[in-house]
Amino acid sequence: MASTLEIVVLAAGKGTRMRSDLPKVLHRLAGKPLLGHVVDTAHALGAVQVCVVYGFGGEAVPQALADERLTFVLQAEQHGTGHAVMQALPKLADDGVTLVLYGDVPLTRVATLRPLVAAAQAGRLGLLTVDLVHPDGYGRIVRDNGRVVRIVEHKDASATERAIQEVNTGILAAPTASLRRWIAGLGNDNIQGEYYLTDIIAMSVLDGVEVETHQPAHEWEVLGVNSKAQLAELERIHQGEIARALLDAGVTLADPARLDVRGRLDCGRDVAIDVNCVFEGDVKLGDRVQVGANCVLRNVSVAAGTKIDAFTLIDDAEIGEAGRLGPFSRIRPGTRLARDVHVGNFVEIKNSQVGEGSKINHLSYVGDTTMGRKVNIGAGTITCNYDGANKHRTVIEDEAFVGSDTQLVAPVTVGRGATLGAGTTLTRDAPPGELTLSRAKQMTIRDWKRPTKKA
Ligand code: UD1
Ligand code: CA
Repeated sequence: MASTLEIVVLAAGKGTRMRSDLPKVLHRLAGKPLLGHVVDTAHALGAVQVCVVYGFGGEAVPQALADERLTFVLQAEQHGTGHAVMQALPKLADDGVTLVLYGDVPLTRVATLRPLVAAAQAGRLGLLTVDLVHPDGYGRIVRDNGRVVRIVEHKDASATERAIQEVNTGILAAPTASLRRWIAGLGNDNIQGEYYLTDIIAMSVLDGVEVETHQPAHEWEVLGVNSKAQLAELERIHQGEIARALLDAGVTLADPARLDVRGRLDCGRDVAIDVNCVFEGDVKLGDRVQVGANCVLRNVSVAAGTKIDAFTLIDDAEIGEAGRLGPFSRIRPGTRLARDVHVGNFVEIKNSQVGEGSKINHLSYVGDTTMGRKVNIGAGTITCNYDGANKHRTVIEDEAFVGSDTQLVAPVTVGRGATLGAGTTLTRDAPPGELTLSRAKQMTIRDWKRPTKKA
């Protein structure tokens, strides 16, 4: 049986170039902290322990990632990557292997890391390297007859060494007992006065532990975030990957470069998404769902055949089959629309259930409402759900017809098949099947004159 895997995530750096009060690893990529991406990868690798070394920003990092599966270790002062791993060593078991990841390198794939873990489990040191056209700033991989012998940091490198294009990504895996021995032997006699994790490579070679290198399938898998520009760049790369996966799954995207998925988007067959849509949290789109331009959907499920027109916002809601929403609709948390419901422009619905075939097509507010089937809500209808202190429910039964510009002062019930005349202010229940209205009788005052300005 392979020895168990523990993962140390270095996340103590300040990230000066982010020019932010937020610790670098808490900046978000696709709506999730950078460190969250790395932690997800660590869990996906099946680590028995994930140990996060934090420092800058104090408790902000452990607080932001409240997860009982994580161990947090404070590195109060940052004296280099070797020093950072040193802080985690007391938490690690000697009979396992350790993989070192970085809280600011969010996009490394599980498949890229597995061979490193396997190398460590076979008693070797697994090292992830990459060939860069511009290797400036990185530690260089020094080889002798093809074998890795050491890593030299850019600042400590000679001109010949600086010409080497194979660089250290920082990501490595080793048997934990060996790692512990090597780290104990680290010094800080170098240009930066830091304990370099990279110095363990030469120690491993001296120990007769073979260094096995692997390279990622894509360069972006090992790119770190040091600035807002790099963060934006990785965001686009990540979104591009998500878009490509959706296209491969048969989703039509009007423009894969104008899509943002900040969470999980599941699509059925023949789904089409127009430009500039944002999907947050968990979103499910059923077969043949169409999403118009500039829509924002957060934690939403949309059943088959529903069409959502441009500029529609849906938050924490369930949308039934064959519906029509938008343009410019706003669906707020706690809303459930049954099948074949139409919601039109400038309609806001909150915490309400709407029955099959009902229509709310123009300029209305429906809040805390239970609406039956085949109800028609006229333009400008408002449910007055709030009395200044408490919220009250409105009930509108099947096949009711609510005339335009009506206010329903909750708690109030509109009976089955009732009709409300336009302009009604309903303060008591409307009986089923009857016409209810609250308008004053129309009259005309003959020979009435408009007031004129006094001289
Ligand atoms: C490191 C490597 C270098 C490699 C490069 C890849 C060393 C000595 N050098 O250099 O070979 O090419 O990464 O990007 O390891 N950190 C801590 N605590 C510390 C120091 C660093 O948590 O005391 C974290 C930082 O937050 C950062 C990461 O470790 O996420 C790398 O640290 P950094 O100082 O940026 O290392 P580099 O100089 O880039
Ligand atoms: Ca760095």
